[in-house]
Amino acid sequence: MKKILVLNGPNLNLLGTREPAQYGHETLADVERMCKEAGHKLGVAVECRQSNHEGQLIDWIHEAGQEIAAGKMIGVVMNPGAYTHTSIALHDAVKGANVTLIELHISNVHAREEFRHHSYISPAARGIIVGLGVKGYPLAIEALVGLSG
Ligand code: DQA
Repeated sequence: MKKILVLNGPNLNLLGTREPAQYGHETLADVERMCKEAGHKLGVAVECRQSNHEGQLIDWIHEAGQEIAAGKMIGVVMNPGAYTHTSIALHDAVKGANVTLIELHISNVHAREEFRHHSYISPAARGIIVGLGVKGYPLAIEALVGLSG
């Protein structure tokens, strides 16, 4: 069974209690359950990881690149959190490891502060899901499965 990796970046471990007006009341555990259920329905295994550390996310993207090249993984769904707006290193990792990536944001970053309007990840992403709440995660999984043909 092919795999999809769901990566959540900094502060997303606080989902549920963190600014619920922006991010809703679902916890990270709820999100990961939704992702696994979506994968189950579509016949793919979904693995979920979260880190507050940029280097850890980079290492996981490199590993994903190897699994994609080996035909074991379809791609990655990543909510890079605030690294979206700062991390050239994450951009380089996605490009350098040749990862098929859906960038995801729970909130509509374009309707928020100006510093959230720019993403270093978007030019390296295959697609982007923004502002659909946590329901965006299963949609991203569906999209990756669709793209894999
Ligand atoms: C976020 C938006 C980012 O601007 C913010 O730093 C986050 C979460 C979102 O899911 O809406 O941590 O990626």
